[in-house]
Amino acid sequence: MIVKKSRVVIIGVGNVGVTTAFSLVTQGICDEVVLIDINEERAIGEVMDLSQSIEFLNRNVAVKKGTYEDCRDADVIVMTACAPMTSDNNRLLWLEATKGIVKGIVENVMANGFDGIFVVVSNPVDIISYYIYKLSGLPGNQIIGTGTSLDSARLKCFIGELIDVDPRSINAYVLGEHGDSEMIPWSCVRVGGKDIYSIIRDNPWRITEEDLDKLLKKTMQAGWEIFNRKGNTSYGIATSAVGIIKAILQNENKIIPVSALLSGHLGEEDVFIGVPVILNRTGAKEIVELEMTEAEKQLFKASCDHVRKYYDMLGI
Ligand code: 2OP
Repeated sequence: MIVKKSRVVIIGVGNVGVTTAFSLVTQGICDEVVLIDINEERAIGEVMDLSQSIEFLNRNVAVKKGTYEDCRDADVIVMTACAPMTSDNNRLLWLEATKGIVKGIVENVMANGFDGIFVVVSNPVDIISYYIYKLSGLPGNQIIGTGTSLDSARLKCFIGELIDVDPRSINAYVLGEHGDSEMIPWSCVRVGGKDIYSIIRDNPWRITEEDLDKLLKKTMQAGWEIFNRKGNTSYGIATSAVGIIKAILQNENKIIPVSALLSGHLGEEDVFIGVPVILNRTGAKEIVELEMTEAEKQLFKASCDHVRKYYDMLGI
């Protein structure tokens, strides 16, 4: 029996695509990374650069420039192709341009018989995830958007800075749109198992209720604060995508907040939105339906409604 190699195809070798490739290679997440881009010379250059670093890495990950034919045997396709980031502070403005790019790509991918898992990075990621779900005809569990995985990582980082705790000891989710309608179910936030409101009660000099709104705004703005200084964002979104890919390829059953298809979950139908999901080799195995307060449920519903308003633009 020949052991099947794990293959990740990355479509788009912009900042996010190549940083994702670098993370996959340096972390040794898969056997093979295939880069596809309309600019073939750029893709070849990235392959050459990555391949020549193998000597110093823990695993000899094969890296190559590919074509859509390589999608047939891919386990995961990372969709990073996207309209260029602009400083409008609103990812939804990129929808028209990005959907045009994505449509042709998905048609080529599916024409080559892909039946693996899409990890969608392209913004506006919740709507583009829904679009790929509809275009591809794949089951909903095989489409995963990075969604609020990065927002949640950013939130944990900011809470950790405020109360001087390692972000990895904080259990907190941002839910909803990866964008301005996202929300934080503070009633579900725990630090070392202690709920945030008890922490506020016992540590008023470290964190107050007023800080909670500031933390939400800081999380929402984080991407733009980075963009305005370096002209893009790459490391956070790429490592989020690689964390998702790792959970899939290594069958981790890890819970990560991603953009997933709700089919009655949390009272919502037919929408891709950021929720905690158990991820494994089947993709989005199970959605974790958090117990939220009524006010939090209303904010979450409002975010779902906000995202759905843009589905008419998809022409599907
Ligand atoms: C971010 O928030 C670009 O949506 C991406 O960094």
